[in-house]
Amino acid sequence: MKTPQFVQLHQPGDGRLASEAAQGLLARPAAVSPKFFYDALGSRLFDAITELPSYYLTRTEAAVLAGHGAAMGEQVRRWLGQAPVMVELGAGSCEKASRLFPLLTPGAYVAVDISVDHLRGALACLQREHPQMDLLGLGMDFSAGFTLPPELPGLGDGPRLVFYPGSSLGNFAPDAALQLLRDMRAAAQGGALLIGLDLVKPAAVLEAAYDDELGVTAAFNLNLLHHLNHLLGSNFRVPDWRHVAFFNAEASRIEMHLEARTDLVVCWPGGQRAFQAGERMHTENSYKWTLPALEALLRGAGFGEQLTWCDDNGWFAVCLARA
Ligand code: AVI
Repeated sequence: MKTPQFVQLHQPGDGRLASEAAQGLLARPAAVSPKFFYDALGSRLFDAITELPSYYLTRTEAAVLAGHGAAMGEQVRRWLGQAPVMVELGAGSCEKASRLFPLLTPGAYVAVDISVDHLRGALACLQREHPQMDLLGLGMDFSAGFTLPPELPGLGDGPRLVFYPGSSLGNFAPDAALQLLRDMRAAAQGGALLIGLDLVKPAAVLEAAYDDELGVTAAFNLNLLHHLNHLLGSNFRVPDWRHVAFFNAEASRIEMHLEARTDLVVCWPGGQRAFQAGERMHTENSYKWTLPALEALLRGAGFGEQLTWCDDNGWFAVCLARA
């Protein structure tokens, strides 16, 4: 039996993260990156979100992959040959990719996440199920650019299938999304990209997904304040803030904000920021596409032939694009 390999490229520097957070708090309007959602509790809250009845994204994508995975696999083999290297971005539990293994028949699997520690358990399990597959866990922060170092073990120089599910591309601003897609195309080395993206739909459906009845998404958003307190030494008080989520149709995105319930001043070592009651801090955008916009986005990033599968409601798309 082989053993998974691990390479940690990203060395998280709390100092750099703290100064990025402080800069965001001082901006007008205040805006902090959604990456600050994901401390240990935030990651668990996100997992809980994916099980909410109103958060249709995860289960709709899973249904599209289950229903059309065989066709995707056939097309991947036609383009890339028998046993491609599969590279998943933001792999976490590696569950989505592993469900596709029987259909996509990869020869090797590279799981990319911010920290290899998120990947160790999942890759150890996967190795028991696939004793002969080369498995690599790669710790990197691809939010600022994605390049696979050429010296990585077991990757080879053939075409690759890059897998980016969950509509995570939607959390990037359009320019950054385009750049990340270009990076993925280069990393695929003439292979393909399999990507899941959320589509435009009635605002009520979108807003229920990001402002659920149980308040789980509100907790996910508010937990960012705990994370900032930990990182920055700030004195945010959760009861002073409320969760706001709405669909901005003009920009085609869900916006999440935290809104001050009262006039307040937040302090941290070396800085402070006053907020008036009703003033907002922007915490996340989640872009939603139409099929023509999605096709143009991938074409703009240099991808060639594209095949797209959707659920019956046309709520979520999984697209296979030739690099
Ligand atoms: C991770 N990402 C794709 C989620 C989304 O739907 O934009 C994050 C999220 N934010 C609120 N709920 C879920």
